[in-house]
Amino acid sequence: MLTVVDHPLVKVHIAVLRDQHTGTDAFRRHLTALTRLLAFPALQDLDIASFTVVTPLAQTTGYQVAKMLVLVPVLRAGLGMVEGFRDVVPDTVVSHLGMYRDHRTLKPIRYYSNFPASYHDHPVILLDPMLATGGSAVDALDYLKAEGARNIRVVSIISAPEGVRKVEECHPDVRVFTAQLDERLNELGYIMPGLGDAGDRQFGTVPE
Ligand code: PRP
Ligand code: URA
Repeated sequence: MLTVVDHPLVKVHIAVLRDQHTGTDAFRRHLTALTRLLAFPALQDLDIASFTVVTPLAQTTGYQVAKMLVLVPVLRAGLGMVEGFRDVVPDTVVSHLGMYRDHRTLKPIRYYSNFPASYHDHPVILLDPMLATGGSAVDALDYLKAEGARNIRVVSIISAPEGVRKVEECHPDVRVFTAQLDERLNELGYIMPGLGDAGDRQFGTVPE
C-alpha cells in the first residue's frame, strides 16, 4: 500500500532537491530534513513498551521502543536517509545493502549485504530515495524476506507509478511511504521530472 506523505514542508524540501542548481552539501541537508519528516508517518504504529521512569520529583510511566528498528539503506543513495531516521529514533541498527542498476538492462546487481539474522522479527525500514522501475526495491525485499524479516516498510523520496506497481504486485504486504509520486519513467529508466541520479547528486560523482 502506498502512502504519499502530504505536508507543506515535504513539498518545500523536494523542490530544493529537484533543483539542478542545488549542490551536494545543500542536497544532503535537505534530504536529511525531509527524511526526518517521513520518519513520523512511517513509524506511526511503532511498538513501544512502558517502563518506570523517575523524574527529580516523582515516579511515572515512560516508554521505549519495544524492538530496535533496523534501517536498511540501499547503497549508495539510501545512505543520505540514515541520519534523518537516526536523529528521531534512538538506538537503531543500520544494515547496509549494496546494489546498483545495470545501466543497460536496468536490473539490480547486489554486491553487499549484512542483515543480522537475529533481528529477523524486528521492524525493518528499507531506505532508498528513488523507486523507479522498482527492480532494486523488489530485489531488496526478496533478500530481506529470505533473511527472515517480516515487518518491512519502504521509505522513498520520489517514486514512479511503475515502481510502486511492481512493489505492490511482488510484495503486497509491504507498505511504501513516499514524499512524492512523480509522472513516469523516461526511456533510460529515470523518474520524470524526478531529481536526476540521487547518488550522484549527493556525492558529486556526476558522470561526464
Ligand atoms: C538508484 C536508486 C535505487 C535505484 C532505483 O541507484 O538509489 O537504488 O537506482 O531504480 P530502480 O527502481 O529502477 O531499481 P543506482 O543504481 O543509481 O545506484 P547508486 O546509488 O550506487 O548510484
Ligand atoms: N535512480 C536515480 O537515482 N534516479 C532516477 O530517476 C532513477 C533511478
